Amino acid sequence: MSTPLCTPEEELLEQNPTSAEIEISRRTFVKAAGILGAGVATGIPTLASAQDAQDAAATTPHTVNLTLKINGKSYALTALDTRTSLLDALREDLNLTGSKKGCDHGQCGACTVLVDGRRVNSCLTLAVAAEGAEITTIEGLAQGDVLHPVQAAFVEHDAFQCGYCTPGQICSTVALIEEHKKGTLSTVSFETGQTVNPQLTDNEIRERMSGNICRCAAYPNIVAAVRAAAMGVRV
Ligand code: FES
Ligand code: FES
Repeated sequence: MSTPLCTPEEELLEQNPTSAEIEISRRTFVKAAGILGAGVATGIPTLASAQDAQDAAATTPHTVNLTLKINGKSYALTALDTRTSLLDALREDLNLTGSKKGCDHGQCGACTVLVDGRRVNSCLTLAVAAEGAEITTIEGLAQGDVLHPVQAAFVEHDAFQCGYCTPGQICSTVALIEEHKKGTLSTVSFETGQTVNPQLTDNEIRERMSGNICRCAAYPNIVAAVRAAAMGVRV
């Protein structure tokens, strides 16, 4: 029910329609505020259940079935959480534990594997994104009992201590050698002006391996192993 207007107000409204609109707006606002107030009082459970539904949706995993081709073999993964990293799929779901989890944040390189020949941090790669690719892990480098030349070079040059970073170092080296053969440049190539077929100097090797951290600091021997492997040299 609207409040009766006193005579001066009625006169004022007749003279000034803008004021009438303001008055209607004011009443609409008061009415809306009343409805909103009632809604807040009675609507908290509704908002809470909407939040619950939102939380449930956020924590309920979306799953997929996918097949990963690893070391020349197909592996079927069923109902895999779409958020699973390639590293976790390898280690937790497929028991391929050669790839190591160091930082899990793309900072140490312990998890390095090859995807279509390119080195990637598997902790930063979603397993679903690797479907259809050729994945090579440290388990896929040796041919039976015959070590891959890079693995042999690491052994011969004593390029590891605890060995935790070694699978990533070796996968990274395999890719580095291919990258170098293709003429890929590094920051050092530009700094030294060697932008055409740069030699794999120790500085080039250090730069190109800088994504792989060794907590044992076996770097001098790692550089020697990479250099030897790149040159196809056996000691
Ligand atoms: S575990 Fe992937 S970069 Fe450290
Ligand atoms: S050999 Fe131990 S972390 Fe590299």
